[in-house]
Amino acid sequence: MNTPPLYRQLANHYLDAIRSGTLKTGERLPSIRLMMEKHAVSLSTAVQVCRELEDYGVLEARPRSGNYIRQPDSAPKPAPALAPALDTSLYAGIHEQVCAVLKASQHSTIKVNFASAYCAPELYPLKTLQDNMIKTMRSDAYLLGAAGSTCGNGALRNILARRALASKTHLAPERIVITNGATEAINLALRAVTRPGDTVAVESPTFYGLLQILESLNLRVLEVPASAHTGLNLAALQLLLQGPERIKALIVVPNLQNPLGSIMPDANKARLVKLCAEHNTVLIEDDTYGDLVDSEQPLSTLKHWDRTDNVIYCASLNKTLAPGMRLGWISAGKWHDRVEMLKHTQSRGCEVLSQLAVSEFMRTPSYERYLRRLRKTLTVQREQMSTAISRYFPIGTSVTHPQGGTLLWVELPRRHSSMVFFQEALKVGIQISPGDIFSNANRFDHFVRIGCGAPYSPRIDEALQTLGRILKNQG
Ligand SMILES: Cc1ncc(COP(=O)(O)O)c(C=O)c1O
Repeated sequence: MNTPPLYRQLANHYLDAIRSGTLKTGERLPSIRLMMEKHAVSLSTAVQVCRELEDYGVLEARPRSGNYIRQPDSAPKPAPALAPALDTSLYAGIHEQVCAVLKASQHSTIKVNFASAYCAPELYPLKTLQDNMIKTMRSDAYLLGAAGSTCGNGALRNILARRALASKTHLAPERIVITNGATEAINLALRAVTRPGDTVAVESPTFYGLLQILESLNLRVLEVPASAHTGLNLAALQLLLQGPERIKALIVVPNLQNPLGSIMPDANKARLVKLCAEHNTVLIEDDTYGDLVDSEQPLSTLKHWDRTDNVIYCASLNKTLAPGMRLGWISAGKWHDRVEMLKHTQSRGCEVLSQLAVSEFMRTPSYERYLRRLRKTLTVQREQMSTAISRYFPIGTSVTHPQGGTLLWVELPRRHSSMVFFQEALKVGIQISPGDIFSNANRFDHFVRIGCGAPYSPRIDEALQTLGRILKNQG
């Protein structure tokens, strides 16, 4: 087969970039001079490339300005569909259902988002963090030129260890590793204590992200029932631990479980820790929401009850302080060295500027004042949302009343399917989390999780009325 001439090869190269969206309509094509330099071609070849692209109708020459990408006349871009169909076949191996829901939800036509567990951006102390970032950069111009340590910034690790004392939890600073959110912390914990094929137990329902992590690590999932009142069902866990299947690890969110919002009583926490130690099952504690509990006295952690170094503690600032900074941490006790090495091989240390900026804020009394204010605001928002849901949703709907956080778990009358509800809501630009994705066992299809992170407003009220109407129209 004849090789096409050089100018055509280059024209095809740019055509591919336009088709794939790397070069977008309205953007400038590299100048003739740059093209000659980058591709080592002559002036006439570079000019021919532009002519070829013009002939294809994808390039427009603007006098004294340059060559710009344009939409070809013959192929007008189709208007985006409001709600793309869920195609689970694309995500085989990483929890297809969850991926398809998340992908469909990224659509630009979303107007009201009830699927998020975050607070609205204006509730976070963004101006203070921005000021701290600028101050930090100004005071140390070399900051970005040096690689941070694998375990993270020492000052931040000290602050986290000191803050944990309030919940009577001992985390030695030198045994804390700063991570990319709780997601990386839990990944590291699981990789440290399991091998592919092992069985890991989780609460049911559970945060879908945990199911995704487990699947991506080729771990078998065992679901243990949990209630919105006291969390994990210890009797059910005990039966499973005594059963034939060896459970290598158990992931539990003891304070403000996602999606239930449950809080385990102290007696249950103590019993759970003991039970896991007796059965040699590593307990991975996910304390993502601990600081959002509506209480002046911090609740105890599972780590507090740990006498045998069998609890790996994971937490995050992504819900409480700054989702954009992606800061989390893990305290892995006797597995610390292994976790540190896994972190090093996986992603090295986390970016240091954010760590310094949050440390600057967290070491002041303003941080505690901010958290107190945030908790009060969320209490009001949860109350308003839950009242509206009770008013607008069909008779037979019930809503949880968690003592903190941003999430409500809503049980619909059994005739409703949350996946159908999700699709219908998406069509009118409203995003919810269908209950089905919080389990591998199809047990929660008549539930939805509703986020209350945003201040109540006429827009939110209208969206909840619309959701109620969709449900009532479904019968
Ligand atoms: C229970 C739970 N664990 C972990 C995560 C992930 O946390 P991060 O964003 O810090 O990675 C979430 C996020 O929603 C969560 O709800």
